[in-house]
Amino acid sequence: MPSLTAPAAPRTPAAAATPAADVPPACPPPPLAVLGDDVRAPLTGGGDVPYAALDLAASAPAARAVWEEVADYLPLYGSVHRGAGHLSRLSTDLFERDRRTVAEFLGCRPDDQVVFTRSTTDSLNLLAAALPADCTVLVFETEHHAALLPWEHHGHRVVTLPAPASPADAVAVAAAALRELPVGRPALLCVTGASNVTGELWPVAELAEVAREYAARTVLDAAQLVPHRAVDVTELGVDWVAFSGHKVYAPFGAGVLAGRADWLDEAEPYLAGGGASLRVDGGAVDGLVPVWQRGPARHEAGSPNVVGVHALAAACRALSEVGYAAVTAHEQALLRRLRDGLSTVPAVRELSLFGPDAERVAVVSFVVEGRDSAEFARRLSDEFGIGVRAGLFCAHPLLRSLLAEGDAAVPGPDAGGCDDSPVQAVRASFGAGTPVEHVDRLVSAVRRLTAEG
Ligand code: ALA
Repeated sequence: MPSLTAPAAPRTPAAAATPAADVPPACPPPPLAVLGDDVRAPLTGGGDVPYAALDLAASAPAARAVWEEVADYLPLYGSVHRGAGHLSRLSTDLFERDRRTVAEFLGCRPDDQVVFTRSTTDSLNLLAAALPADCTVLVFETEHHAALLPWEHHGHRVVTLPAPASPADAVAVAAAALRELPVGRPALLCVTGASNVTGELWPVAELAEVAREYAARTVLDAAQLVPHRAVDVTELGVDWVAFSGHKVYAPFGAGVLAGRADWLDEAEPYLAGGGASLRVDGGAVDGLVPVWQRGPARHEAGSPNVVGVHALAAACRALSEVGYAAVTAHEQALLRRLRDGLSTVPAVRELSLFGPDAERVAVVSFVVEGRDSAEFARRLSDEFGIGVRAGLFCAHPLLRSLLAEGDAAVPGPDAGGCDDSPVQAVRASFGAGTPVEHVDRLVSAVRRLTAEG
């Protein structure tokens, strides 16, 4: 069991557990220092190896800088927007400064709001709850369930768009659907920045532009984009953006919805309670008459997760300091290495919507011919200390279209989580703190497991 406090020693890349003679030469060290690089994973055959965390699309480890900022802040922790004492005032100032950090990080317009939530899922549900009642939502069937499901759940008419064959096709499909919408009624196009299944980038700016042509608004699900690429809502022309702290090296339970204030200010509060209410008139005799806040507080009822928000803002600072150029250069070098390596294993088929040459972030899903994905992923962990995910990745319609007849024909043990289908895929995902050895170990482990026949 590793110590629960952050290791004090300077970060060093994990040692190679299974040096392979056939891997390309060494890469420079990762640009972002993260916690957990000293964790060792037990192997079923005995002994242990440095844990290779390759499931960052689900949850990324804490950045060392994030942990340090959180540790510095914790002794000063106090209630936010509800106390007169020194630490309450300090925490309130910090909380609002963190909000400005996030707004700046996202390139928000002066009138945009940054609302703190629990996660991307929470942010998109908040937006769904805030849309005008007669709003139509257009969403591609290829989206993660967090972006696919909230709209109908909150009573809106949904137009589900078919999987496009290319980024240009996505724009054409969206344009054709937008053209059919009733004129003068509100509409929202929900777009993903990067797929949590294939890592492929979507043409966000082009989709936002076509939405604007038809007077529709756009929300960007940036959960898988912000860890890898700079997101600037002004440049992209999107109306809202949502992302989660736990995917950007700040696993402390905070998320963000940032963007246009008007619909958020006109909507009923997402949660009713203290903080969202400016005043409550009436009482037992006349009935209660709450007067709600405007601005982010309207949708942040209850004591805010100030530690989570501070961690998330610290992650924005850390990523800005490292710079996305360095993040992208590192990740793309590892991505090439992983994809080149997997392409030499004949039994492996990489899943892709837009084709092998499409631009993508550090997420690769694949199936291994004749192998059950859940069992394959479990063996990667048990025998090689590699943590990947198996399943349908909460994107069931997309996976159904990407998996072929006969994939994962061997039913295996339940992988757990939200995917109970016997037909699944394996996903490896990594980031700015991933050492190249983890990727090399995965390629060599896949080769070894598939060579068993
Ligand atoms: N959305 C996360 C994933 O794709 C949980 O794994």
